[in-house]
Amino acid sequence: MTETQRGAAIETMFEEVRRYPPDPGFTANANAQAELYELDFEELWAKESQRVTWFEPWKTLLEWEPPYAKWYLGGKLNVCFNCVDRHVEAGKGGKVAFHWEGEPEDDRREITFADLQADVVRFANALKELGVGKGTPVGIYMGMVPECPVAMLACARLGAPHTVVFGGFSADSLSDRLNDMECEVLITQDEAWRRGTTVPLKRNADEALESSSGVKKCVVLRRTQGEVSMERGRDVFWNEIVEGKSDDPQSCPCEPMDSEDLLYLLYTSGTTAKPKGIAHTTAGYLVGVATTHHYIFDVKPESVYWCAADVGWVTGHSYIVYGPLCNGTTSVMYEGTPDFPDKDRWWDIVERYKVDILYTAPTAIRSHMKWGPEHAERHDLSSLRLLGSVGEPINPEAWIWYRDHIGGGGTPVVDTWWQTETGMILISPLPGLTTTKPGSATKPFPGIDAAVFDEQGNEVGPGGGGYLVLRRPWPAMLRGIYKEHDRYVETYWSKYPGVYFAGDGARIDEDGDFWLLGRVDDVMNVSGHRISTIEVESALVDHQEVAEAAVCGRMDPTTGQAIVAFVTLKGGAEGSPEKLAELRNHVGTKIGAIAKPANIVFTPELPKTRSGKIMRRLLRDVAENRPLGDTTTLADPTVVEEIRDRGTTDQTEE
Ligand code: PRX
Repeated sequence: MTETQRGAAIETMFEEVRRYPPDPGFTANANAQAELYELDFEELWAKESQRVTWFEPWKTLLEWEPPYAKWYLGGKLNVCFNCVDRHVEAGKGGKVAFHWEGEPEDDRREITFADLQADVVRFANALKELGVGKGTPVGIYMGMVPECPVAMLACARLGAPHTVVFGGFSADSLSDRLNDMECEVLITQDEAWRRGTTVPLKRNADEALESSSGVKKCVVLRRTQGEVSMERGRDVFWNEIVEGKSDDPQSCPCEPMDSEDLLYLLYTSGTTAKPKGIAHTTAGYLVGVATTHHYIFDVKPESVYWCAADVGWVTGHSYIVYGPLCNGTTSVMYEGTPDFPDKDRWWDIVERYKVDILYTAPTAIRSHMKWGPEHAERHDLSSLRLLGSVGEPINPEAWIWYRDHIGGGGTPVVDTWWQTETGMILISPLPGLTTTKPGSATKPFPGIDAAVFDEQGNEVGPGGGGYLVLRRPWPAMLRGIYKEHDRYVETYWSKYPGVYFAGDGARIDEDGDFWLLGRVDDVMNVSGHRISTIEVESALVDHQEVAEAAVCGRMDPTTGQAIVAFVTLKGGAEGSPEKLAELRNHVGTKIGAIAKPANIVFTPELPKTRSGKIMRRLLRDVAENRPLGDTTTLADPTVVEEIRDRGTTDQTEE
């Protein structure tokens, strides 16, 4: 984010004077009461660890040797046992774990905790037969089907760390991740439904496996019944391998894991072309996600909670699978897009299951705003009691629209700030306690020491802006980047020694409330998804006709940011609409459809300094239609003028 952008964001926020104090009725029954803020952080995390069932109690709460933390040392537990078995043992086997709704209408399943246990045990037994055991790395490349959480939980049961790869990623992205983690097994499905058409997951997987020879077995779930090719000796169908397997939990007991054993890796974009394998371990992660889920979403035993994210992102890991299931919560899980077959699909779901808590991203809220409130008005949404937002800064207009048109004007809205790396929500209102302000994530969660630092590392006081940092470890924090110690130190711990640098700009107001201002590095946030500019640039220059490419984000009313690419073709060739489509598709193939640029500006030359460095700041100014900043260091100042004349209006057909 440039200074101008940050300045503009700050100005808008200062004009934001609306305040929403908690409703006393809500406060009286809220899970979070004021005492929570009074506990010392060690007392708090010791107390909250009781939320989890331990096979052996932990002995040491925290060992902090910056930049690595270990939590609940000496403890033994199993995540699957906590998310599934213990609820059945407590007599809650008949409670619904997932109301699953497929994208094709009337394709629904109700999965109780007992059903979930049976499915997980059967599948874990099948995985065992394929050679999966404690420590076997497993890749999961699926859509939003119940078998995706089943696969994750079966891995957790066996002590096999997983990496879930979002179904929108391409074959190349999948094989990079499988290779980095050295996965031995891949779990996928024939195809996924998406807006009435299908995504060929198995076909992508086949392509990925051509360059991931470490994967010896590939399990294929039948979802659409679409045709797939199966490689003998390697590929097996899910339904065939579970046939005849026992669903008795004793037949496949939960592996006792150390608190610090690896639970999963989740790859996320950094500032280089290579995604980072963010490592999350067992106990701290589970305590962190279950605790925040309980207090921030005010989940009650009778709640029907819906996190409308995809399991392929961290939000899905923490707040569709591990947090809610650990808390024994009934969730909705929906396979498809919000506008299929019509734009009221979500509201139909909320009404039908009487959802009381909805958690989604600003980009989705803005899409609904664009489609108009009439779709929500056709449904009874009075069951909704609380609304949550995540993934990017929420503009006050969207916040208010969400509260008024979806929440009926009375529900608290919790704007939750966190990251793949943090594992759990770190900055958020506590409903019933916090006076909310549209656009502010408000206060650090109890026990979290967040601050805003200036460039020199001084804490800025109320009213100041700078970089968001965390000064104290928290249970669900990342345990590093897989196999990349130096990169871990460099990315998060080198800007300010001993302090975690989040990569976000933030401002703190007179009340101590945090306003998140977006990324300060070369990472874009498109529809709440993190995409690195360099990753997209690498994908573009990978095309045989591209000589050079520079990529940046521009503001977009729906997706938050949109990707703009400036491309120079080899041999001085001119761009064309066909070339544009070809390059967009090429990026889609290299990374995934989410990374396709919204605009491609073909230019004979990129603006460079005399030493040959691309002037990204100027390209951002062009992309945002801002007056051009200082151009005096440019080798050829006429270049940017020319690029500007070529324009950056939206060229996407979607
Ligand atoms: O820039 C912040 C933004 O999303 C980034 C983290 O992205 P990811 O790891 O993909 O996780 C997204 C879901 C947790 C952050 O560095 N971000 C996330 N939540 C918010 C946010 N920005 C502003 N407000 C938020 N509530």
